[in-house]
Amino acid sequence: MSVRHFLSLMDCTPAELNGLLRRAIELKDLRNRGILYEPLKNRVLGMIFEKASTRTRVSFEAGMIQLGGQSLFLSPRDTQLGRGEPISDTAIVMSRMLDAIMIRTYAHGTLTNFAAHSQVPVINGLSDELHPCQLLADMQTYLEQRGSIAGKTVAWIGDGNNMCNSYIEAAIQFDFQLRIACPEGYEPSAELLAKAGDRVTLLRDPRAAVAGAHLVSTDVWASMGHEEEAQARLASFKGYQVSRALLDLADPGVIFLHCLPAHRGEEISHDLLDDPRSLAWDQAENRLHAQKALLEFLVAPGYTKNA
Ligand code: CP
Ligand code: NVA
Repeated sequence: MSVRHFLSLMDCTPAELNGLLRRAIELKDLRNRGILYEPLKNRVLGMIFEKASTRTRVSFEAGMIQLGGQSLFLSPRDTQLGRGEPISDTAIVMSRMLDAIMIRTYAHGTLTNFAAHSQVPVINGLSDELHPCQLLADMQTYLEQRGSIAGKTVAWIGDGNNMCNSYIEAAIQFDFQLRIACPEGYEPSAELLAKAGDRVTLLRDPRAAVAGAHLVSTDVWASMGHEEEAQARLASFKGYQVSRALLDLADPGVIFLHCLPAHRGEEISHDLLDDPRSLAWDQAENRLHAQKALLEFLVAPGYTKNA
């Protein structure tokens, strides 16, 4: 049987993705009730971080411990990757010792190259192109709070970055309409836009994107790797801040999500995370539960109820 990877939301069927969300909610409930569930005893997750992380590292590490397994934090600085050992050789060696590998990287090709040479599941913990694990948590949060997102309208405001690209894939897989409002020159992947067809609308005006929306989301204006453009981007993204007043144009039941870290006073107003419509803290917590469901699905498939 060929090994399953999770490099993109497109690596799962819509039924599998919805099954992961339902399972994440069950695993959250088990943890809240203090029930031990350790299907990954003696399993080890390797985690390669080329970029900084708080949520992704903590949620995968805590998740593996809670499932009875362990994880290894691997930085290119302290491994032979930093001294030029090829990704392919690293993948062959690591995958003979580990049960799954999570990678946070710059070039998405690093992930596909690693996965091509790995005999164990590889998980995308963020690349310059996609952030699929975050979308599991976002979709879980919507499902918990408002029910199915199918047929709803989502507004993405700001940079057409890795998060925005994953929202396009989510629109396809979870069957919602996505309106993206971004400045010229900061559009998401043209390939993904073409794939999504009329499910996704590209706009310039944040107010038009948010009007009547059920979910509004944004992200930093300068992602990791673009730090040197941060100053110039402040000018390009002027007018794209999500504020309470902007959310007032949305559906009365709207929720606001932000993958975090947030820059208050830039992509969001200073008070937005304190607004009752913001569920960013639940969303951050759900990284833990959604990824535990993903780890169970990939590493201990016998335990998965869905699919
Ligand atoms: N949202 C997210 O991936 O956060 P970290 O960069 O802290 O992992
Ligand atoms: N777009 C951001 C997401 C961080 C979780 C980045 O890539 O830096």
